[in-house]
Amino acid sequence: MRLLKATAEACANIAFIKYWGNRDHERRLPANSSLSMNLAALRTRTTVEFRRDLESDTVQVDGRELGGKALDRVVSHLDRIRSLHGTLREKALVVSENSFPADAGLASSASGFAALTVAAAAAAGLGLRTDELSRLSRYGSGSACRSVPGGFVAWDAHDEDDRSFGRTVAPVGHWDLRDVIAIVDPAAKEVGSTEGHRLADSNPFQKARLEGSTGRYRAAVSALLARDWDRLAAVIEEDALALHAVMMTSRPSLLYWQPGTLAVMRAVRGWKAQGLQVAFTIDAGPNVHCICTAAATGEIEAMLASVPGVMHILSSGVGGPAVVLSSSWAGG
Ligand code: PMV
Repeated sequence: MRLLKATAEACANIAFIKYWGNRDHERRLPANSSLSMNLAALRTRTTVEFRRDLESDTVQVDGRELGGKALDRVVSHLDRIRSLHGTLREKALVVSENSFPADAGLASSASGFAALTVAAAAAAGLGLRTDELSRLSRYGSGSACRSVPGGFVAWDAHDEDDRSFGRTVAPVGHWDLRDVIAIVDPAAKEVGSTEGHRLADSNPFQKARLEGSTGRYRAAVSALLARDWDRLAAVIEEDALALHAVMMTSRPSLLYWQPGTLAVMRAVRGWKAQGLQVAFTIDAGPNVHCICTAAATGEIEAMLASVPGVMHILSSGVGGPAVVLSSSWAGG
């Protein structure tokens, strides 16, 4: 058997309607449907090479070799790909680079697992469709399934594994929205999302959040398709606050906000009152994503720079699907 080496690239994504909690943790089947926008400026490029001369999987991210739980998670994902192939036993050399600063405190698991899945599946010659690649990425990190298709992506909640994947609801060119990210604390998060999803199970506020989530998801999809900024902005903020209400009331409590987080949220509220088309959203961390229209971007970037606690700003437009950039015969 000849082995391939493949390089793939995937964008990170920012959810307008958040995924939080699972109906099945092992298979990462989500408790609710979510909706996101791929981020063109935040990409992970990953090369996977299955080699006969390797005794164990070796993974480098931004020049550093992974160990411990982070490595185990990638190895488990490579095992899924080897078992789908059937007879592939070779270990892999995985080299991954993020286009955004590793110290920005931004999640790279979505772009990371999407790029890993697409590269490893290509290197193993699996010939999978986009929906199958998305579903497979989901096992590495739930939100990664939304980084496989392009543009604005929905991930519907289902009990069946083969119906749980990301699908494009509107392509890249549908609406020139931007994400201006205010980095207020570059430190890595103390409690990762895998553990956070489990904590939601025993939280009574999660039930209330889920009751409202379907309505918010439908409103967000319809506002997005209609390019109705005011409706979309309202539901983005409401959903982010519902997520953080659950996080804060989990046991142990997940309080991701820093003083700079709140300073940016308040500033965004002020800019909205002045008529700017901007809304905030926050993931499992302190940084604030200011979702805005193209026309508002320059002003938002300029004003964010003087909000107390803002250390850097990253700006992104809507990103495309995960792609295989190259494939060749492997050396080892
Ligand atoms: O894919 P995970 O397990 O890292 O979870 C992502 C959770 C949030 O970023 C908070 C929300 C989302 O939908 O991306």
